Amino acid sequence: FGCSTCKSADKPLEAFIRSLPLETSHHRVEGQSVKCGFGLQGVCCRLCSNGPCRVTPKAPKGICGATADVIVSRNFLRAVAAGSGCYIHIVENTALNLKNTALAGGAIKGEKALDRLCGLFGITAADKYDKALAVAEMVLADLYKPEYEKMALVNKLAYAPRRANWEKLGILPGGANAEIVKGVVKCSTNLNSDPVDMLLTCLKLGISTGLYGLTLTNLLNDVMLGEPEIRLAPVGLGVIDPDYINIMITGHQHSCFSYLQDRLTDPEVTAKAAAVGAKGFRLVGCTCVGQDLQLRGAHYEEVFVGHAGNNYTSEAVLATGAIDAVLSEFNCTLPGIEPICDMLNIKQICLDDVAKKSNAEYMPFVFESRASDSDRIIDAVIASYIARRGEVALNLQPEHGNSDTLTGVSEVSLKDFLGGSWKPLIDLIVSGDIKGVAGVVGCSNLTFGGHDVLTVELTKELIKRDIIVLSAGCSSGGLENCGLMSPEAAELAGPKLRAICEKLGIPPVLNFGPCLAIGRLEIVATELAAEIGIDLPQMPLVLSAPQWLEEQALADGAFGLALGLPLHLGEAPFITGSKLVVDVLTEKMKSLTGGQVIVDPDASSAADKLEGIILEKRAALGL
Ligand code: SF4
Ligand code: FE2
Repeated sequence: FGCSTCKSADKPLEAFIRSLPLETSHHRVEGQSVKCGFGLQGVCCRLCSNGPCRVTPKAPKGICGATADVIVSRNFLRAVAAGSGCYIHIVENTALNLKNTALAGGAIKGEKALDRLCGLFGITAADKYDKALAVAEMVLADLYKPEYEKMALVNKLAYAPRRANWEKLGILPGGANAEIVKGVVKCSTNLNSDPVDMLLTCLKLGISTGLYGLTLTNLLNDVMLGEPEIRLAPVGLGVIDPDYINIMITGHQHSCFSYLQDRLTDPEVTAKAAAVGAKGFRLVGCTCVGQDLQLRGAHYEEVFVGHAGNNYTSEAVLATGAIDAVLSEFNCTLPGIEPICDMLNIKQICLDDVAKKSNAEYMPFVFESRASDSDRIIDAVIASYIARRGEVALNLQPEHGNSDTLTGVSEVSLKDFLGGSWKPLIDLIVSGDIKGVAGVVGCSNLTFGGHDVLTVELTKELIKRDIIVLSAGCSSGGLENCGLMSPEAAELAGPKLRAICEKLGIPPVLNFGPCLAIGRLEIVATELAAEIGIDLPQMPLVLSAPQWLEEQALADGAFGLALGLPLHLGEAPFITGSKLVVDVLTEKMKSLTGGQVIVDPDASSAADKLEGIILEKRAALGL
């Protein structure tokens, strides 16, 4: 299993993966290094039995007559619609869980968050359960609207100048689920062949994805699970303690196991752990749901110590031998963990069949039976612990990661930290002590020199230029394990940003948590813009998803473009086969929404471009 080509920005992790006696996704990169040129450019179509058709200079059209522009935009819209479907599934389940929690008189841990939502939505009920029910029902009603009926909450969630821009472009979304169906229908065989219409549909899906799938999922979770609180926490493989029964969590739907999470600290359940020789239960954070739990970690210290790593760290987490079960409810649950779980006798449990693994036990999350189901899961995990401990060798990495990652940053906790207003941050931007703000978001992948390599290098380049970085998604997992979210990382920042960070005791990279928290970044950006009195595209604010991975990231990207923001990507999203699509996304978008895509795989030149845009925006504001 030698893996001399395995590469990660996280060098101790890289060394660990290279030493493993098992195959991981890192090992398979080499075997997949020859990419399909047609797929890469987005010019392969296999929508009908006349295909697959591949566009070449000699054969510039598919058999049906579809041009490269049509094939590329169709493939792109399909991907965005699929990505939107993923996020809308998450917010739908989250809203259903809030509704059921309200009806059952369950745990409402974030009453302030609930009141803020009620204020935003115009709900005047007095009782907290009536409030929560009303909030959940308003969200669900919008998600289930037909495509021809506009979603009502967009008017309350969207920044007014943006809403006006979207109305002008005709991209205000109808019901989110119905918009996904419409998007998929548009790109089936011999239907839509207008690339611009399809790209505008992508923006529309981006808006419903962003405002509901991203923003609202966080806010609904805040109500059920408690609000983020800023604190320092440990991260990395070092958080794994073999004295506990350890459950690795992967996915994006935190509220699907919140009951179980609370149950794990019940004396009756901890006694069960003690009876088999364990100190108790621990959830080990992995992927975005681990980030979500880390964000709210102040409320769950008894059952959660820290986040271990992102999607392509999950195999390493399992390889420590100290994980007794994997609890998954969504992506990014890699198929490649299945043989590793088999090899190390790790129990796999799926709570949602959208993320069903072939050798996992499917225990669907059903609100009504959550108590008995949680006990069934706990018993299954204990049985796994008994069966495997002593049989499977431990390969712990106690030194991996760090103990002082700043977490718990949200649109609310950050503003509180600044004294209850955005003014201090605006003043720093105006004075130039902070040149601008960059959201480094999205996933991690294994291209561009390896796991998190471009993400970490670009982030270093940005902070060096006195640009503060806000992060959300699996990118955060890499940045924190590499130490960029520890207060000492201030020394890597430019002199002005460094001085601010040292004064405040914060790192130059602030972790908002899961990819869902891109929605929190949107709230921060909007509140800053509103306070200054400008629209989002005027802000010295840029986005980058340097190592975007999935279709979901493309839906996020469409949201960023709809917001009118410059969006850097390390790799083009399979569109380069169409001049028209490239031109619309990289140039024409500026006159539509104000946004633009910038593709650059090099950290230093990408940072130069993003800095250049920030300087232009500053100049336009007279700064
Ligand atoms: Fe070829 Fe057109 Fe069929 Fe696609 S839809 S496979 S381009 S004939
Ligand atoms: Fe995610």
